[in-house]
Amino acid sequence: MAVGIFDSGLGGLTVLDAVTRRLPEVPIVYLGDNAHTPYGVRDADDIYDLTTAGVARLFEAGCDLVILACNTASAAALRRMQEGWVPSDKRVLGVFVPLIEALTERHWGDNSPPREVAVKHVALFATPATVRSRAFQRELAFRAIGVDVEAQACGGVVDAIEEGDMILAEALVRSHVEALKRKMPKPDAAVLGCTHYPLVEDVFREALGEGVSVYSQPALVAESLADYLERRPEMRGGGDEAGFLTTGDPASVSNKATQFLRRKIAFEAA
Ligand code: DGL
Repeated sequence: MAVGIFDSGLGGLTVLDAVTRRLPEVPIVYLGDNAHTPYGVRDADDIYDLTTAGVARLFEAGCDLVILACNTASAAALRRMQEGWVPSDKRVLGVFVPLIEALTERHWGDNSPPREVAVKHVALFATPATVRSRAFQRELAFRAIGVDVEAQACGGVVDAIEEGDMILAEALVRSHVEALKRKMPKPDAAVLGCTHYPLVEDVFREALGEGVSVYSQPALVAESLADYLERRPEMRGGGDEAGFLTTGDPASVSNKATQFLRRKIAFEAA
């Protein structure tokens, strides 16, 4: 009984890591579309085609439930997939909603009208495609009123992380935080709206400084998945083998994943 986790590359491993700690008994099949990363600079049709191909591979591996551990795919493709592509016996869930529920102090399934919340000035850091989609602002508007969102499209950060160039990734994070602060000098919360960013979360925190609450997805998504599986245990799926699949070069992806998760990870060709 396996659950699928999909990302354009290595970023979803941050979610996988939190999920395996929260739900150690649930086998996870991870698929990274490393051959086509980054998604953040692609158009919506392209992201839809790549995401459906990856998720179809996870269905094939026995997963009935797939988490899109990729904000870009969640923002650009998920709604279209849910409306016309996902078979009725399968589920595909994104990573936006748990984050926005945490930010707006809501529990799952609370569909009450939007209301005032504690945070007023939110800095969103995400890929260019996620920022362009305005999916974050749309989901937020369903739940909260009076929240000012300033978004920073963090070009280059995913590419640098995928290439293992953490010095460049860190420098880019600092310059994106500076650019955001020029537009919104005093955010009270910052959202890391890309699953690659927890790999440089310390740099975001340091550059943002004290007094900014940082919302990062891995633990929030793991908690929300645990809650979902309690309500829908049948969605754990037919497969019972965990594994790591990539559309890229398994040896190089395994090396980087091992470095990021600090444990041996062996990817196979998808
Ligand atoms: N981890 C993906 C996300 O959460 C990165 C997207 C990309 O490949 O640019 O948005």
